[in-house]
Amino acid sequence: MPIQRCGVRPGRVARHSVEVYCAELTRAGTLERVRAVLDRERPAHTAYDLCVIEPRMRVAKLDTDAVPEIAARAHVEILPGLIRRVLDDAKLSVHDVDAVAATAGPGLIGGVMVALLAGKGVALAAGKPLIAVNHLEGHALSPRLADPDLEFPYLLLLVSGGHCQLLEVRGVGDYRRLATTIDDAAGEAFDKAAKLLGLPYPGGPAIEELAKSGDADAVPLPRPLVGSGEPHFSFAGLKSAVQRAIAAGEHAHEDIAASFQQAVVDCLVDRTAVALGTTDAPALVVAGGVAANQAIRGALAALAEREQRRFSVPPAWLCTDNAAMIAWAGAERFAAGLTDPLDAPARARWPLDARAETVRGAGVKA
Ligand code: KG4
Ligand code: ZN
Repeated sequence: MPIQRCGVRPGRVARHSVEVYCAELTRAGTLERVRAVLDRERPAHTAYDLCVIEPRMRVAKLDTDAVPEIAARAHVEILPGLIRRVLDDAKLSVHDVDAVAATAGPGLIGGVMVALLAGKGVALAAGKPLIAVNHLEGHALSPRLADPDLEFPYLLLLVSGGHCQLLEVRGVGDYRRLATTIDDAAGEAFDKAAKLLGLPYPGGPAIEELAKSGDADAVPLPRPLVGSGEPHFSFAGLKSAVQRAIAAGEHAHEDIAASFQQAVVDCLVDRTAVALGTTDAPALVVAGGVAANQAIRGALAALAEREQRRFSVPPAWLCTDNAAMIAWAGAERFAAGLTDPLDAPARARWPLDARAETVRGAGVKA
């Protein structure tokens, strides 16, 4: 498997995994060759020269079973063997790789530190450059892996468990944030609503599935900030409304799921439409775990068509966290001559646009 997923323990931390990815990287035609490898059927990798390490440690706050310290320790236990196995599968030694890319943040710092230290160790041992990748840049650039014709700049709706932002992607490492959430992220809203409905984590896929048999018009739910001039997002009020609807006991759960999903769709489309009015970027792109949702993909495709912008969204497997997107971001940075010193820090918080102002109530999600 090119993406080596490794469930670490049954039970409490089973849904935390470390992903190690080795992708082909050569000096000539780097990006084309990496794309060719990553694009191929995922179980069919044969050539590997870039070793990529991505911790999946962003634990939903609601997920009370998730214990960051236990997950971090599990990463310590499994990462060395996992890296060894990935290299062995590729019939390579660390000396064969051209560069080592590792996620350096943002996220729960324990797992991030473990992954980054592992990446630094491999880079140091092999005498290869380190590429410290921002997880968000992995999401932001992943559409260019799946869509070779997608040029900069583009307007990106980045919707994940921890983030909900609109960014103008101007180039590798060059981002301008146009909007962010003032409370919950879109994925967080799905996860919280799912928990209220008694559905498993992650909530997004569970709600999407349940919504298929529900009526999206059945439950009147709010669309926070829709119609406001600034393109920021808010989902906390929607979650509270779901809570009240469940408590009232008047609606079937599938109707609540469908109505909730429709409310999120309406918020995302309205907010993105406002942002489109402020940028000439010729393409609208959506990425991050929530972009795996078919209703969201369809609604944004329709918005792009109305606004006469090109639309691009990666396949669902590339939307939710994966190591391929880190491999790709690493390759893009390597091709641009961007490598990092071995003292590159692990960062719990690492905004793509460092100049963006903190918005009211946004807290760490700014
Ligand atoms: O990007 P991601 O895999 O991890 C983070 O970086 O946060 O995003 C995870 C989030 C979770 O909140 C999950 O519920 C949501 O993406 N998600 C979805 C779907 N698949 C994953 N939300 C809605 N519909 C989906 N099909
Ligand atoms: Zn993510």
